[in-house]
Amino acid sequence: MTVQQMKDEILRLKAENDICILVHAYQNHDIFEVADYIGDSYGLSEKAAAAKQKTVLMCGVRFMAETVKILSPEKTVLLSHEDAGCPMAEQLSVQELRELKAKYPDYAVAAYVNTTAALKCECDVCVTSSSAVKIIKNIENKNILFIPDCNLGSWVAECAPDKNIKLINGGCPTHMRITPADVEKAKAAHPGALVLVHPECKSEVTKLADFAGSTTEIMDFAKKSDCSEFIIGTENSIIEHLQYMCPDKFFYALSKNCVCENMKLTTLVDVYNAVSGKKRCEVVLDDETIRLAKKSLDEMHRLGSM
Ligand code: 13P
Ligand code: SF4
Repeated sequence: MTVQQMKDEILRLKAENDICILVHAYQNHDIFEVADYIGDSYGLSEKAAAAKQKTVLMCGVRFMAETVKILSPEKTVLLSHEDAGCPMAEQLSVQELRELKAKYPDYAVAAYVNTTAALKCECDVCVTSSSAVKIIKNIENKNILFIPDCNLGSWVAECAPDKNIKLINGGCPTHMRITPADVEKAKAAHPGALVLVHPECKSEVTKLADFAGSTTEIMDFAKKSDCSEFIIGTENSIIEHLQYMCPDKFFYALSKNCVCENMKLTTLVDVYNAVSGKKRCEVVLDDETIRLAKKSLDEMHRLGSM
């Protein structure tokens, strides 16, 4: 089968089998072309809740598929590759979080959505990279325990100086590979380029950037900007997507090491296997986990739409 034939088959089978395909922006470009919706974590969580189809295939990592299941328990939710996890989502155990809550009883607990469903059950609200600043500002409590990403957390703390934010020692191993020296090197090589980074980067890196935002916000910024050259500090798939979206502009990687091995596990063949039913990885959660975790996601949508 050629790549084009496989894409055509996927499009035919997803319609025939009533499957919605959600694709995170860190997926390979060929998978974009079979998507019903492409986006960042917040956009995907909204589309998941609104999807009409009975089955949703999440091309991304496990916490994203769990989020779909929490928001749509009546749907069959499939993950594109059974081993696609997120190391950051599991950095903190439920027991460790309970100990932190006991230590800081007066704090509201805000969890980056990149956490397991079990951790979401213990939190007051979830945030995504695109909604974090707004949500943190809208939380009534001044004291906020932010888990697990200390880099996103310190970026949020700078943008919301009225809040007293307690961070822990977690973060994304992919984005943390980018160093301030990488920024200096890339700026010297491309002096006319703007530096766009994800707030999961170390705060020393984010401080050197021209813009920080979620994957969708980075792509929107580059599309709308009058500038024609950009240094991209997030998972390197974004560079290829931007090259297709803006073929007249130039995009450079801040670091060739910024590749998420988990996001890259999914291939077009995995998508084909899922929509054809040949090999499926269904995500199942118990009712109590869904009930408790949903509260923190509902709170995210409430505070995010204020
Ligand atoms: P966003 O899509 O919300 O920017 O998140 C980035 C990420 O690391 C997802 O795993
Ligand atoms: Fe997790 Fe980072 Fe990969 Fe996103 S890029 S899935 S946060 S390891």
